[in-house]
Formats: sequence, structure tokens, C-alpha cells
Amino acid sequence: MKLAVVTETGPTERRVAMVPDVAQRLIGAGWEVSVQAGAGDAAWFTDDAYRQAGATVGADPSAALQGADVLAKVQPPTAEEAALVPEGVIVLSFLQPAAAIDGLRVLAGRRATALSFDLLPRISRAQSMDALSSQATVSGYRAGLWAAEYLDKFFPMFMTAAGTVPPAKVLVMGAGVAGLQAIATARRLGAVVRAYDVRAAAREEAESVGASFVDLGVSAEGTGGYARELAPEELRRQQEALAAEVVASDVVITTAAVPGRPAPKLVTAEMVDRMAPGSLVVDLAADSGGNCEISEPGKVVERTGTRVVGMANPPSGMPTHASLLYSRNVANLLALMVKEGALAPDWGDEILLGTCVLHEGRPAHGPTAELLDMELVPPGDGGGESGGTEP
Ligand code: NAI
Repeated sequence: MKLAVVTETGPTERRVAMVPDVAQRLIGAGWEVSVQAGAGDAAWFTDDAYRQAGATVGADPSAALQGADVLAKVQPPTAEEAALVPEGVIVLSFLQPAAAIDGLRVLAGRRATALSFDLLPRISRAQSMDALSSQATVSGYRAGLWAAEYLDKFFPMFMTAAGTVPPAKVLVMGAGVAGLQAIATARRLGAVVRAYDVRAAAREEAESVGASFVDLGVSAEGTGGYARELAPEELRRQQEALAAEVVASDVVITTAAVPGRPAPKLVTAEMVDRMAPGSLVVDLAADSGGNCEISEPGKVVERTGTRVVGMANPPSGMPTHASLLYSRNVANLLALMVKEGALAPDWGDEILLGTCVLHEGRPAHGPTAELLDMELVPPGDGGGESGGTEP
């Protein structure tokens, strides 16, 4: 069994899909690991560290990919990258089909199988493979730190000889995996934190990490533990009720997302105008359209004295531990595909079935089939019948 790891080529991407420590664990379990030279450099993992772990280092992507059964990536392969994979390879990556379709089309031509971490079922057995969660943990932590860094005030209450300084007031919108970590980080730094979410279960989770919960009476439970998109009227009511909370905060951290939809607009330009000068909005959802009307990914936009920080690819900004967690997710997913020392994926397993977008070159996922204009063929089917592998 041979795993290949190549350098990520995305302009903001510093992560690597496999770190030396986890590669060593895989090698101990019977894998060969082959890494492109420099693949770990941006996350501070040297070629020598990979060699010491027992991996081989190839000069370029083609050398790393030679004879590989599996390719692990963070970002979806581009068409150029996909053209280099051996026939029949299994690709593990984040692979949102709409954003990755050019690479997927080439992979289909290579009879590749592609598994996307975006589609991993949110079930207990899959938690150790849940790369969305591991990377959201990094994002939430960084959002808390960025907020403290950018705010021109203390986060904790200070009692000094020059008098007492009150703590910062932080509002976190969206108390999922990233939001909970943002709350915990802001709390550790001493801020007073309020949190808001549309899922009822979020109250207890937010309170358990030290936030007081804002109840606006708007509920939007979706399926699979996610939120659903609010109807326009619900969104308007929510924005009205939220305005007072936003205006009273020194910092607003937004992390709200709805799978497959643009990020809900929670903070309007008008709310930003009403915030006190020196206030801050940190928008973790900037890459998917933004929770704040005026945020731009990778930019700090200033408006009437409030700065809006649009975080771009936040986990990549802390690549060492983001890569470590991602590598463990990859190793755990690989372990699920191995039987008695050989690669033998069981396509009846709901985790593999749920994450599979391409199986031996054929679309195994409804939206991917539509985008490729090809017939949907669930893994294990001879062909012809369409089945329900959509998330
Ligand atoms: P996410 O990244 O899709 O969304 C982030 C948060 O935004 C969610 O809490 C969502 O409720 C919230 N949100 C959406 N629309 C909103 C709106 N209009 N206003 C305010 N908040 C809004 O979700 P994430 O963090 O990936 O996971 C959500 C939940 O899924 C977790 O809290 C957990 O309950 C569950 N989960 C289960 C796992 C498992 O069992 N293996 C693993 C990870 C998460």
C-alpha cells in the first residue's frame, strides 16, 4: 500500500496532508509513504523529518506519485495535478464538487476514486476522521486570537494601581465547532462572551465553554446536526433582534454556516455603522460569502471606525497543528479501508459510501454526476441504477 503526498499549490495554502509523525505510524502499519520534496516546508516539516520517519522523498509530484495507491491532499487537485495521478488511484481531500469539478473531470478520466472530507457523515464512529471539525477547531481558535490581537483594548478585566479596566465584550455568532473554540479562546483570555446560534443544542454547548447564550426565539434546526437556511422573513427578524447585541459588543466573531449554501448575512452594514469606534468584527465565514455584509476574504475593511476582518483560509494560518490533525484524520480514514494489510475498501460502509464522490472514474455522488454530466453509479453497483449517496 503506497500513499503519496504532494506540495499544496493553492496560493494561501500552507498545510500538508501528512506530517512525519503520522507517516511513521502508517509505515508501522504496513504503508509506504512517498512525499514530494518541500511538501511540508510551509508547515515546518522538513524533508529530513519525513526521511527519518521512514518515508521516501521524491523530487517532484510525478516522482512522489509513482506507483501510489492513494494520494492525500488538503485542497482539491487542479486539472494539472489530477493529470499526474496513476490510473485507479484513491484521492482523499476536501473536494467540494462545485469548486473542484475541473480536477474531478480529469480524475474520472484516470478511473480514480475520490473521497471528500466535506461529505463525511457526522456520526460518532466518524469523529476521528472528521477533518471539517479538526480544521474548524483551528479556525475558531485563531478567530479568538485575531480578535484579541486587533482590538485596541484588553480582553481581561484589569485591576491596576491606575484603576480598573473592564473586560472586553465579545459576541460569537454560530456556536458550532469553530464558534465553540472561539468562545473558549476568548474566555481563556478573559473576555466576557455571549453566544448565539439557531440550533437549540448549541445553548448547552456554548454555556459549557463559558458563554452566556442569547436567545432570540429564532430556531432553524436542519438535518445531520446542521442548521437550515432561514427564510427571508426569519432572517429579517433575526437581524433586527441581533442589532442591539452587536452594537453593545466590542468584538463580534461570526462563524455561521449552512452546508452547501452561501454563509447567512447576520451583520449588516447598518449594524457596523452603529458599533462604537474601535470595535471589531472577525468574520470566519468570509471565504464562503461572509456573515458580515462588508467583509472581504483576506482583508481588513474599515467603516465608520469599525474594522471588519475577513479571515481567508484560517486553518492554513496555523499550518503545523492544522496539518497534524488533518494527517490523523487521513490516517484514520485509511485505516478504515485496510483489511489484513491490504487496501480493501468496503463500499457498504456508510462512511466510505457517504464521502465517495467518484468511484473508479464514475460519479458516486448526485451533485458530482450532474456537474460532470455523467450517470450516477453508487460504488458496488454494476451500473445503470441511481442511488442515494448524496449527503
Ligand atoms: P457549520 O460550520 O455548518 O455551522 C456553524 C454554526 O453556524 C452551526 O452551529 C450552525 O447552527 C450555525 N448557524 C447556521 N446558520 C445560522 C444563523 N442564521 N444564525 C446563527 N447561527 C447559524 O457547523 P459545524 O460547526 O460543522 O457543526 C454543527 C454541529 O454539528 C455541531 O455543533 C455538532 O452538534 C454537530 N457535529 C457532529 C459531529 C459528529 O457527531 N461526528 C462532528 C461535528 C459536528
